[in-house]
Amino acid sequence: MSVILGIDIGGSGIKGAPVDTRTGKLTAERHRIPTPEGAAPEDVKRVVQQLVEHFGLPGPVGVTFPGIVQRGHTLSAANVHPDWVGLNADALFTDATGHEVHLINDADAAGLAEARFGAGQGETGSVLVLTFGTGIGSALVHDGVLVPNTELGHLWLRDKHAETWASDRARERDDLNWKQWSKRASTYLQHLELLFSPELFIIGGGVSKKADKWREHLKAERTRVVPAQLLNEAGIIGAAMMAAGSDPALTAAPAALSPARRAPRKTSG
Ligand code: BGC
Repeated sequence: MSVILGIDIGGSGIKGAPVDTRTGKLTAERHRIPTPEGAAPEDVKRVVQQLVEHFGLPGPVGVTFPGIVQRGHTLSAANVHPDWVGLNADALFTDATGHEVHLINDADAAGLAEARFGAGQGETGSVLVLTFGTGIGSALVHDGVLVPNTELGHLWLRDKHAETWASDRARERDDLNWKQWSKRASTYLQHLELLFSPELFIIGGGVSKKADKWREHLKAERTRVVPAQLLNEAGIIGAAMMAAGSDPALTAAPAALSPARRAPRKTSG
């Protein structure tokens, strides 16, 4: 059985759903529980426990986290409770739920899902997935393989902290219209383009629902820019994919994203 529970920890809600990791489809409706005030680890743990009980699925569980996740430890907390820093979160959640729980950075999860089942399907080379929300998350996927924890939202552009200047929260805070926000975000994309020369930028996070507002304004110099396709579900799907990949019994090969298994790239003309 390739159906795995994916859980996405967000600023306002913690959402879970079972995902068929071979197709990237949810097999049941999402269940959402509001994020506890302050989002301290112990409180979030209880919500994750509730979601695991709600679905009652056997097997490992994938959980996103909006910060650096390395070897099961949460190592940064730009927009969440400071108690997460240095925590062995895999162990905390595994003990609490009795399931093998694996955490992954939220943008990395969205990147895995978009690359395999969303806007990056069939792409080769480097794809940069950026999530614009409270912060800016980034996922660098090369030939279907993720380079985790790139944290490109924390780049400095001259004297500007990219995330504080060009996130969706910055758009709201500074009361920018979409064209004004796109100008900032384009400056950011063009800087990333210089550093990574990706084949494609995929724009996810909260702004992906409003693509009609920014599509014509958001531009890199030489790289295609497309909206994410999986919207609210990308984190859940990517978390489940990662958890499935951690258990060889659940995937034909741990390289669930191996280029050989993906559709050939579409060429134009
Ligand atoms: C965090 C990233 C995260 C992003 C989006 C940033 O502040 O450092 O780890 O992916 O926000 O949630």
